[in-house]
Amino acid sequence: MIPSQKTGLAGIVIRMVRRLALIAIARGQAMPETMTAPMGDGFDQLARDAVYRAMFTRRDVRSHFLPAALDDDVLARLLLAAHHAPSVGFMQPWNFIVIRDAKRRKKVRDLFLAARERELPEIEAERQALYRKLKLEGICESALNICITCDRERSRDSPLGRWHNPEMDLYSTVCAVQNFWLAARAEGIGVGWVSIIEAQALKSLLSIPEHVTPVAYLCVGRVSEFAPKPDLETHGWGRRLPLPELIMSETFCGQGESLLKSTVARLNTVDATAAIAGPADQRVAPAGPQREPPKEASALSLSSLNFDDASASRASQSGSGTWPAMVLK
Ligand SMILES: Cc1cc2nc3c(=O)[nH]c(=O)nc-3n(C[C@H](O)[C@H](O)[C@H](O)COP(=O)(O)O)c2cc1C
Repeated sequence: MIPSQKTGLAGIVIRMVRRLALIAIARGQAMPETMTAPMGDGFDQLARDAVYRAMFTRRDVRSHFLPAALDDDVLARLLLAAHHAPSVGFMQPWNFIVIRDAKRRKKVRDLFLAARERELPEIEAERQALYRKLKLEGICESALNICITCDRERSRDSPLGRWHNPEMDLYSTVCAVQNFWLAARAEGIGVGWVSIIEAQALKSLLSIPEHVTPVAYLCVGRVSEFAPKPDLETHGWGRRLPLPELIMSETFCGQGESLLKSTVARLNTVDATAAIAGPADQRVAPAGPQREPPKEASALSLSSLNFDDASASRASQSGSGTWPAMVLK
């Protein structure tokens, strides 16, 4: 007998559990089946826009954390997203250490400060002053920290996909980090990755066993804003490289793919910048109801994206784009 055919008390309990699950889904507390059901097709335009929106407005957050606590409901969804990352041999090498304790976090921050001092002499002399000024962590200000680890022995007896390339488990864990990061952006939660920490010291502080590698130490929490572009770009440390220059044909440094490159060159993501706040305050507010994309943006397909920074900034200055406005040059 299948569960739905059960009668009596068992049937009532099953129906109640189902009803509660549906209510939880409706309240956003659980993942609806339709989100996990296999679909042969691409997403509809709005759903696609939402995916690209998460990617193009995700930020590494260090400075804008709010003291607000993070709901376990939300955190659970982020962890579930991380846990659905691809992994070599489906080994799922990750664990998620949730760190809330203020004293422990202060100790992690001390590790960061020490590591930063050790890294400083390795930085070009003329960039050291700027390096010192950069805010590169939000360990104590964020709602909580999460260390995502990789258990290097989880597929020890059947290393499918790792026999020749044992580092694939680390790459798999990074996929989980990215899933977490993107889901967080969609939820309006900031994430900042802190890698300036000596791994062995972090392992002993968090009692991480020898065969487990801490892959990402993340600061996680509600934020006052998502910056329109990377902090390191804003502070003159680096710029996004032109994508066409990174595309090669057939072999490393292989010339060609000129059509693809010119298509890429015509694309542009209008960054979120002035779209919402206006040119005077070039910030993207995360909290509250998010703006709907303009009709013309929704009507555009990925082939109309433009990645050129100059036109992105033109569009954002004119206030013409809102996120995820993707315009044709
Ligand atoms: C593996 C990895 C390690 C990183 N480590 C740090 C870090 O220690 N401190 C920091 O401020 N940002 C760190 N970042 C964030 C980068 O600086 C950031 O991703 C980059 O500047 C682009 O900015 P965006 O993420 O806002 O687009 C790290 C990012 C990655 C992927």
